[in-house]
Amino acid sequence: MINLKEITKTNLISIIDLDVNEHQKDQVAPNAVSITQGHYSNSAWFKGIFNDKIAVRFVMLDLVKKENRCFLWRFMIDKKYQGKGYGKIALTQVINYVKSLKIFDEIKTSYVPKDNSVEGFYKNFGFIKSKKIITEFDLEDSVEIGMKYLLK
Ligand SMILES: CC(C)(COP(=O)(O)OP(=O)(O)OC[C@H]1O[C@@H](n2cnc3c(N)ncnc32)[C@H](O)[C@@H]1OP(=O)(O)O)[C@@H](O)C(=O)NCCC(=O)NCCS
Repeated sequence: MINLKEITKTNLISIIDLDVNEHQKDQVAPNAVSITQGHYSNSAWFKGIFNDKIAVRFVMLDLVKKENRCFLWRFMIDKKYQGKGYGKIALTQVINYVKSLKIFDEIKTSYVPKDNSVEGFYKNFGFIKSKKIITEFDLEDSVEIGMKYLLK
């Protein structure tokens, strides 16, 4: 069963050890970097995603309630566990968590465009492209493409 769990002293290394395929390394930061950024951010919400007791994935959101801003900041699944449907289950759980907060109107995200990028995965969920997100998050100097998922 796929579960989102708090990252603790005990399971930290299993999350840090998760890694994507070589061609995906420009799509997402290493988890050690993400967890460090999360600790120094006032608005980061991050969890390890486990299949029973086995770490398979990491997710981090940036939640700025005052500005009604929910940004899917990091979302990765270890190369060994991709293509098994875990991503779909985990993102559904993340979306349900954000919905349950009853604060945000949409989940925003961005990705680096290339063959086999995460675009198709997000599109399957109903995420749509949004140029406004690139301006909102000061990403104009990057190649990133913005997407959003409407919660209401
Ligand atoms: C993209 C990623 C999140 C998908 O996770 P996953 O667990 O392999 O996906 P699932 O097995 O749950 O697939 C769910 C559905 O999405 C589809 N899908 C998965 N990856 C896809 C991709 N890159 N493009 C298009 N469709 C994709 C699957 O075919 C499946 O379709 P179906 O429901 O019709 O059968 C994962 O490959 C990953 O971690 N990539 C590297 C990191 C990354 O790019 N993160 C996002 C930026 S932070």
